[in-house]
Parts: sequence; structure tokens; C-alpha cells
Amino acid sequence: ILILKIIGLIEADSKYADRDVDQDSVGSAFDASQTSTSSSSSSSMKRRWDGDDEDHSSRKKQVTEESLHSQKVATHYNKLQECGLAERNKSRIVHMRNFNNWLKSVLIAEILDKVKERRREVTVLDLGCGKGGDLLKWKKGRIDKLVCADIAAVSIEQCQQRYNDMRRRGHPNDRTFSAQFITADCSRELLSGKLRDPELRFDVCSCQFVCHYSFESEQQADTMLRNACERLRPGGFFIGTTPDAYEMVKRLEASDSNSFGNEVFRVSFQKKGVYPLFGCQYDFSLEGVVNVPEFLVYFPLFEEMAKKYNMRLVYKKTFKEFFEEKVKDEKNKVLMQWMQALEQYPPDERGQLASDSPGEYDHAKRIAANPAARRPLGTLSKSEWEATSTW
Ligand SMILES: C[S@@+](CC[C@H](N)C(=O)[O-])C[C@H]1O[C@@H](n2cnc3c(N)ncnc32)[C@H](O)[C@@H]1O
Repeated sequence: ILILKIIGLIEADSKYADRDVDQDSVGSAFDASQTSTSSSSSSSMKRRWDGDDEDHSSRKKQVTEESLHSQKVATHYNKLQECGLAERNKSRIVHMRNFNNWLKSVLIAEILDKVKERRREVTVLDLGCGKGGDLLKWKKGRIDKLVCADIAAVSIEQCQQRYNDMRRRGHPNDRTFSAQFITADCSRELLSGKLRDPELRFDVCSCQFVCHYSFESEQQADTMLRNACERLRPGGFFIGTTPDAYEMVKRLEASDSNSFGNEVFRVSFQKKGVYPLFGCQYDFSLEGVVNVPEFLVYFPLFEEMAKKYNMRLVYKKTFKEFFEEKVKDEKNKVLMQWMQALEQYPPDERGQLASDSPGEYDHAKRIAANPAARRPLGTLSKSEWEATSTW
């Protein structure tokens, strides 16, 4: 997943109550915004909305394939072992993982600060929460209530366990938020009926590294968006990260095969030249391990679809742009050092670089050679920069 990146921030406006927009008007908005992507995918999308069932059996086959894919996602994430800190630190891409985690930390902290300007009690939906990688960020942000949802039951159990441990370990005066944990395929089931408090409203929905799984079909993407947005308070925020489809296609087109990548990651498409709006599948592998298939998210389409839930785009950056903007702030820089989100170059006497392949640190070597440079530098290997800049 750690390939392309966009950090999207979408603000719910106060017209929110009136959200049941008729689907055709959204269809025309899609048609109007359709630019370079194949027009056949747009018309097939419209056909389904119009209820034309001429290709009923192929649709049925597609639905079966989609549910098989959801099962694959759940099985994949359920099987993923929770590896300890020591194990994680041995990984070739430990700094890239830390770097991505730093981006999330900054994004989450900033949005919570913004929400707290208006609200004393903050409620968050962590959609596709996984094993609870962001629980500490919610705790640090002093939120009041959290709902965690994920398709993978084992991940949800581990997330709940982590939350219980966090509570137990905390100081008696520590205020830990209350939490609910829900196992659900958020691209097919509505979360609203599963909430313990049916009146609950969210100030923030955070959907980190998740949206691209739902772009298998229009319906799945819409259900995911509905879950993300329909219970946001007016003025609430959706924050998310998803690969950058432009960058992915650019790199694919520049490659002389159906894939691109390097020693840490690889993205493989079935073919080039045709990029449907939904179901544009690719395989992503990281450190040689193939992940479950993902789907391109064409951002203008995502933005249009979100309008159905009265959401408005307020901020969009690639990981690179976000990093360059946020690292200027001293407190983010300190957090970056603390999280070891960049690798030290040159390494200290006991240290070793993450890669000894030729050319992996030429960029750092060049900068370090400048007498005016402050050493040691913080960097990532060339392959990690390439991987993280696909987001
Ligand atoms: C890359 S992980 C990210 C986990 C977490 N958000 C984080 O940043 O650490 C993607 C997560 O999305 C979840 N996911 C994928 N499709 C989903 C769906 N349809 N409904 C709910 N969760 C889904 C997976 O089970 C997995 O936990």
C-alpha cells in the first residue's frame, strides 16, 4: 500500500442534513468531470445507475468476484502477524514505515487541534482501523470517544486488546477515551445500525490507507464514503490517505512492462492504457510480500462522489508536499526525530545503512559533501523515497 499518496481533507458543510441527493444528479456530475479517463467506464457506471439490467449475468459474476475480493482482504489482514518493535526495527523499510506513521501523526494532531477550536468533546470514527496503529495518536489528541471499524475480525480483536492494555497501563488520573469496536465490511454494510449509541455523531472520520480497497465498484466506494461521512457533524472532517493514481499511471506508462518498482516495492497491473474508474486493479508488493489487490482511486471522481454527502475538499497533498510543508514546523521536526522517521546519514560508528546497494544514498552523499550542510542528515534510501512518493 505504501506507494502513492494523497492526503485528503474534506470538510462537511452545514447543508449536511439534506444529503440524500438523487443518484442521477451525481451521475451527471461524474460525466461532466470526466476528463482523460476512459469514457466507457463512465457509461457503464451510468448504465448501472439507470437500472438497465441488460448484462445482468455479468453483473452477478462481478458481484461474486467483489465479495470474494472482500474475503481475501479480510483473510490477508487477519493473517498478518503483529510483529514486535525489535522485529520492526530490523525491516529494510523501517524508516519509510516510521515516515508514513509520522505523516499520520501530524495530520491527526492538526485536525484534532482544529476541531477543538469549536468542540470540547471530540468523537472519532477510525474507518479501517487495522490493529489499532493510531490508538496512541487518539490518546495523545485527548479525544473523548472512538469507534473503530475494520473488515478483519482478528485485527479488531487485537485493536481492542491494545486499547484495553493502554487503559490498564495508563496512570489512574489519565483520561482514556471510551471506545467501540466493530467488525464490518464498510464497503457493503452500514455502520450506523451497529453503533451502541444510535444518536452518535462524529467530529472526525479517519480513513488511513483504506479507501483504495473499496474502489472495486461504484457501489462499494459509495458505501465506504457513506459510512465515512453520513454521521459527521456539520463542520466535521474526513481525513484520509490513498495512493496517487496520477503518479501510479505515470510510472506505469514510463515502464517497458506492466509493472514498476525497485528493491523495496513493486506495483503490477494486468495491462496498460485502460484505466476504468472502478475496478482498476493492481497488485502491490512490499519487501517481496504481495499484498491483496488494490484499486486505483481517481481523485476527481472521489471528490465528486463525496459531494453526495455534502463534503467539500479543503486540502490535498502528496506525501512529499505534505512532508515539505509540515517539517518546517519545529514541533513536527522534533517528532520526526523522536519517531526516527528519517535515517541518519552518514550513520554513526555502530550504525549501518538500511541498504548497501549502489546508488541508494547518492542523493544524501551529494548534500553531505556541501560544507554548509548540517551533518548528520536525515534521509531515506532512494528506493524508499520512490515508494513513498507514489502516495
Ligand atoms: C493498510 S491497513 C491500514 C490500517 C490502519 N488504518 C493504519 O493506518 O494503520 C488497511 C486496513 O483496511 C481494512 N479494510 C480493507 N477493506 C475494508 C473494508 N471493506 N471494510 C473495512 N475495513 C477494510 C483492512 O482490513 C486493513 O486493516
